[in-house]
Amino acid sequence: MALSLLQPGAALSAEWTAPEVDILRSLWIGTLGPPPPDPTNAVADDPDAAAMGHRLFFDTRLSRDGNIACATCHRPELRFADGLPKGVAIGMTKRNTPGIIGAAYSPWLYWDGRRDSLWSQALSPLEDPNEHGGNRMQYVHIIANDPGYRRSYEALFGALPDLSDAGRFPEDASPLGNDTWAENWRQMTDEDREAVNRVFTNTAKAVAAYERLLLPAPSRFDEYVAAVTEENEEQKNAIFSDAEVAGLRLFLGGGNCTQCHNGPLLTNFEFHNTGVISAPGDVPDKGRIVGVDQVRADPFNCLGDYSDAAIENCAELRFVRAGTELIGAMRTPSLRNLENTGPYMHQGQLETLADVLAHYNAAPEAMIGHSDIEPLGLSDRELEQLEAFLLTLAAPAATSERWLNPPAADTPHPHGD
Ligand code: HEC
Ligand code: HEC
Repeated sequence: MALSLLQPGAALSAEWTAPEVDILRSLWIGTLGPPPPDPTNAVADDPDAAAMGHRLFFDTRLSRDGNIACATCHRPELRFADGLPKGVAIGMTKRNTPGIIGAAYSPWLYWDGRRDSLWSQALSPLEDPNEHGGNRMQYVHIIANDPGYRRSYEALFGALPDLSDAGRFPEDASPLGNDTWAENWRQMTDEDREAVNRVFTNTAKAVAAYERLLLPAPSRFDEYVAAVTEENEEQKNAIFSDAEVAGLRLFLGGGNCTQCHNGPLLTNFEFHNTGVISAPGDVPDKGRIVGVDQVRADPFNCLGDYSDAAIENCAELRFVRAGTELIGAMRTPSLRNLENTGPYMHQGQLETLADVLAHYNAAPEAMIGHSDIEPLGLSDRELEQLEAFLLTLAAPAATSERWLNPPAADTPHPHGD
């Protein structure tokens, strides 16, 4: 305490108890490590797959109208989100576009966790009429007809099927498409459909390998925790203002935020109903209670034919939690990089961080299911302190510039980063 006597203003940023330091360390990016292996994807950590995925992520030809790429909505300059309440491409999606930096750490993808791997996730927007709006047969032809993709694909996954017989492989076909595309799909043999699905899923596995490179970098908060651990008083006080320290205290204490926003990504990867009110005109979103059935039924899940995992690698899916507490529940989002990713929540209902904190302070009753949060009774000043703390979690991606920009057309990438 002697220091706080010497330095006016240091009193607030004062000592943390040993148990508090343990909690701070558990939130520290230094405990994050590389993304967990993805046994469902044999090329998850292959640099050539990542280079192919990089091209695919920015390639607008992978769409019905030739104008939409993943990067249309997941914009690198907005931390791979889009700044809109709900994602917009060919049409408008039902939910807010999450930033995907660090998505490789999540066992479940989407707000409702209806997919269980990055590659099975990537298949959906490609065929969603509101997003890329195309079909798997179309995409498989693009891979086969583009010399760069063909070369990368065959080096990674082996020979492409011979698609030259238009009777067997029409221009467009998909079980999820419009009537024509669905009819074309029905006309195909099981074997040919299998071959198309194989190329489609392998392509998505390359996209996933790229996404695994999008990682969070240390933020000012992480520097602060390092200074606390090293008991470097001077540095500690230089890194965080008194308001930020007070906000951090509330985050751990009176705000009860670490009940759900814990671990180095500030998420428990679990599903909770926090009573966020639907956007006007929207029906309340059922969230995880539907997502859990969808991920179990997904032919491209961990247990499906296109997964590279052994059954014992699929415990997460086999023993997935279900139950009525999941009505209206969404996956706890990471709180790293909240700057520039608003509006917030699953439908982008809340415009600013101040709105989010006002929501937690009031804890309205849920429209469906039961809210897991209680009113906090914090003062305006305390809410401002919490917001000041949340902003200290912002940091650029720990990913080299070249992965954040579209690749030069058809240039083979050198290995590694
Ligand atoms: C129309 C804009 C749009 C396009 C195009 C788009 N996405 Fe998304 N993305 C979204 C929205 C909206 C969500 C959340 C949807 C939900 O949870 O129901 C999402 C969710 C995701 C997630 C899950 C993130 C998480 O934290 O759970 C990943 C990963 C992702 N998209 C990757 C991709 C990839 C790869 C592509 C290209 C193949 C793509 N997206 C194309 C809007 C888009
Ligand atoms: C019971 C679990 C739980 C608690 C406690 C909790 N959160 Fe959340 N948080 C969530 C979930 C789930 C969402 C997504 C809700 C949705 O979209 O419907 C969320 C969303 C957010 C978002 C929006 C992120 C984004 O990208 O849209 C912020 C910011 C946030 N929480 C901060 C906090 C703070 C600060 C506290 C403490 C005052 C807190 N949370 C307490 C589970 C929780």
